[in-house]
Amino acid sequence: MENRIKTIGVLSSGGDAPGMNAAIRAVVRTALGKGLNVKGILKGYNGLLNEDIIDLDSREVSDTIQRGGTILGTARCPEFHDEEYQKKGAEICKKHGIEGLVVIGGDGSFAGARALANLGINTIGIPGTIDLDISCTDYTIGFDTAVNTAMEAIDKIRDTSTSHERCSIIEVMGRSAGFLALWCGIANGAEDILLPEKYDYNEQAIIDNIIRNRKLGKKHHIIINAEGIGHSTSMARRIEAATGVETRATILGHMQRGGNPTCRDRVAASTMGALAVDLLCEGKNKRVVAFKNGNYVDFDINEALAMQKDIPPYQYEVALRLTKF
Ligand code: ADP
Ligand code: F6P
Repeated sequence: MENRIKTIGVLSSGGDAPGMNAAIRAVVRTALGKGLNVKGILKGYNGLLNEDIIDLDSREVSDTIQRGGTILGTARCPEFHDEEYQKKGAEICKKHGIEGLVVIGGDGSFAGARALANLGINTIGIPGTIDLDISCTDYTIGFDTAVNTAMEAIDKIRDTSTSHERCSIIEVMGRSAGFLALWCGIANGAEDILLPEKYDYNEQAIIDNIIRNRKLGKKHHIIINAEGIGHSTSMARRIEAATGVETRATILGHMQRGGNPTCRDRVAASTMGALAVDLLCEGKNKRVVAFKNGNYVDFDINEALAMQKDIPPYQYEVALRLTKF
């Protein structure tokens, strides 16, 4: 049944990701097209608790599809773990007539959405994170832009690394997940790829690999280190001392979260934003939008949060095979 609800809200939460604006734009325009009112909640659950709520019309989202970040702002809101604040959030939604809420973020943000759903607000989650670490979906908004940004930065580091015949340890984001590191490892042709899911902390194996590669005549040695392992600077010091090869560490950091979204992110975000509103209008609640096996689908939030996602074994095996030469 269409249009049971009259007013929906949208917020972005957790770390921002390129493409969030395209998702917000799609939510707003799909909802307006169905005759709904749309409220934008600023700065995630913080903004909800502070009643930082604005009306969104079509012009508000003009000229945003190509912009990184999120026009609504985002935040982490530790209080929202607390039931008292979740109840306050639900009351504020009701006060503003928000019957359906679209939450763009990661698993943490979906847990907040589930809490609101349990308190009577229909909620739909959209996966937005550069980390690709949401188990129910093969794709998360922001990943493609971030991995391309990181790849281009690593290409540049490789130029100078080769000129100086150095070893470079480059740390990429991903929180406790290694997807960004794996993709950069393959795309940048790294000699070593350290993933939190796989790394056995055998630094001697890396040292042996560097010494072996020098004997083979390699001028650079690129190590992609995932943020979940970290400690790149101290690792560089130890590796230089053990190998005699000058070693530098670069932590790419927040530059990976910015920039204009790629085509893939804009299209995925636009599709997911529209689907979220379609689901709310069908009377669906407590769902997460996902891209699975080439299709846009939706899952129950509880099921989605209980799923597990591992590093794809074949992709990892290929990455290892290609580092050996
Ligand atoms: P992400 O959404 O990217 O996983 P976080 O884990 O930082 O990012 O979560 C974003 C926000 O979602 C938190 O700051 C908090 O406001 C809310 N949140 C996280 N976990 C929960 C939870 N278990 N219950 C309610 N709200 C939560
Ligand atoms: O979840 C996105 C992410 O960029 C992670 O890769 C990283 O661990 C974290 O957010 C950094 O968060 P903050 O912006 O709070 O430093």
